[in-house]
Amino acid sequence: MSLLAETQSIVKQFEFTDDDVNKSVREFLRQMDEGLEKDGTSLSQIPTYVTGVPTGQEKGLYMAVDLGGTNFRVCSVKLNGDTTFNITSDKVAVPKELMVAEKAEDLFAFLALQIKKFLEKHHGDHFEAHIRRRMTVSSPDGYRDEHAFRMGFTFSFPVQQVGINKGTLIRWTKGFDIPDAVGKDVCALLQTEIDKLHLPVKVAALVNDTVGTLMAHSYGAPGSHGAVLGAIFGTGTNGAYLEKLSNLKKPLVGEYDSSTGNMVINIEWGSFDNQLNVLPNTPWDVALDKETPNPGIQMYEKRVSGMFLGELLRLVINDLMKNPKVSLFRDENSSTNDRRSTTDIAETSGIWRPWGIDTSILSHAAGDHTPKLSVLRDTLQETLQISAPAYEDAQAFKAIAEAIGRRAARLAAVAIGAVVLKSGRLSDPCHANDPVDVGVDGSLVENYPYFEDMIYEALRVIDGIGEEGAKRIRIGLAQDGSGVGAALIALVAAGMEKNAPP
Ligand code: GLC
Repeated sequence: MSLLAETQSIVKQFEFTDDDVNKSVREFLRQMDEGLEKDGTSLSQIPTYVTGVPTGQEKGLYMAVDLGGTNFRVCSVKLNGDTTFNITSDKVAVPKELMVAEKAEDLFAFLALQIKKFLEKHHGDHFEAHIRRRMTVSSPDGYRDEHAFRMGFTFSFPVQQVGINKGTLIRWTKGFDIPDAVGKDVCALLQTEIDKLHLPVKVAALVNDTVGTLMAHSYGAPGSHGAVLGAIFGTGTNGAYLEKLSNLKKPLVGEYDSSTGNMVINIEWGSFDNQLNVLPNTPWDVALDKETPNPGIQMYEKRVSGMFLGELLRLVINDLMKNPKVSLFRDENSSTNDRRSTTDIAETSGIWRPWGIDTSILSHAAGDHTPKLSVLRDTLQETLQISAPAYEDAQAFKAIAEAIGRRAARLAAVAIGAVVLKSGRLSDPCHANDPVDVGVDGSLVENYPYFEDMIYEALRVIDGIGEEGAKRIRIGLAQDGSGVGAALIALVAAGMEKNAPP
């Protein structure tokens, strides 16, 4: 069989048809309802204790920190009250060894230290005033509560929330693995380390990045009756939406303001259909799952998000290189059968190493429209140390990468379409013809060419959405969800503190 025929057969295995899309939307809606009824379901449907979305008029200075992937970000956000804001932020990579540290304290002490550095650098005055005041009051805790910065903690992992600033870690995702932290209150873990450094900061709110995205998009897109969905398509993938309290059948343990009749739900859709009722499952999906620290979990995320697509591509390409019927990236003149010595690829190339391919290469492949794929061939040479890749080889690489990217986008449309349908906004006569806003963030939607176009293409075929409905769905990049969104929730939480009985 020729390389072309083999490639076509692989591409076919990544097809996700219109029928598949519709079947999956129905299953997604079913699993959403199941998650609203009880715990322990595939879609966790976690109540966040946030009961409204902002109006754009909120004001004040808040802090926000964000842990959710490769980086830890610390920000201060000034909300101007007119839908605009100013943000100051610093970012640091989370050392790999801390992602799998033995003790939770190791990671959280590192986070607190970054907050200290940020305050010293950007808010020196506030910080020094705090130190001075601390010396003049008898109760340091009393002082801290009154004057401290309120901080929103964006912690983008599945957490069982029991209040706006309280929640226990259910499980790690995206390569983090610190068993000591599972079952513990992550806000308390952070506050303890902040207090050890005597910082004037109170962890006021615990926020999933999708919830932050939903809030930020509602703040920045006024007049649209609030976004119906905040979604992340980045290292991981997930979404949050506003649900009627009356639909939330499982018990709520914490305090909340029920006057709006709604609550934001963190869907944790990375674990949609862990049982594989409808998700596609190629041999490479199976192989990838086995390589992860959480096999059988986050099955949707493993087919959709940035952390996994590069590895999926690597596994397919490795198989194709082993295929004796074709010669991909192979030195034709060699007489041995050892693939490593017969390929034109350096021993040190990431192609030989699990997780050795960065997902950004899928974007390079999809974005290259030069007649001889010279951009992609240069990228293959530079990042994967493949010497002078042939045009045909780059073509095969591009076709496979695009098939993986396209399947991811169509799967993304399943979740978006299901939540839009669940919101009822398309058929609500009070909102007829209004845009239906969806706030998104993350490296895939930001950088992968045509990701959004492929999402729309799939949205148009969904029963109940169709051409007309898809036209009304307005997918927009949420402005800095993890910063502004977390600050907004810290503001809501600060209001709740004031109203709380003494
Ligand atoms: C993972 C996390 C989820 C987060 C998503 C996007 O799926 O479990 O909490 O929202 O990644 O960062």
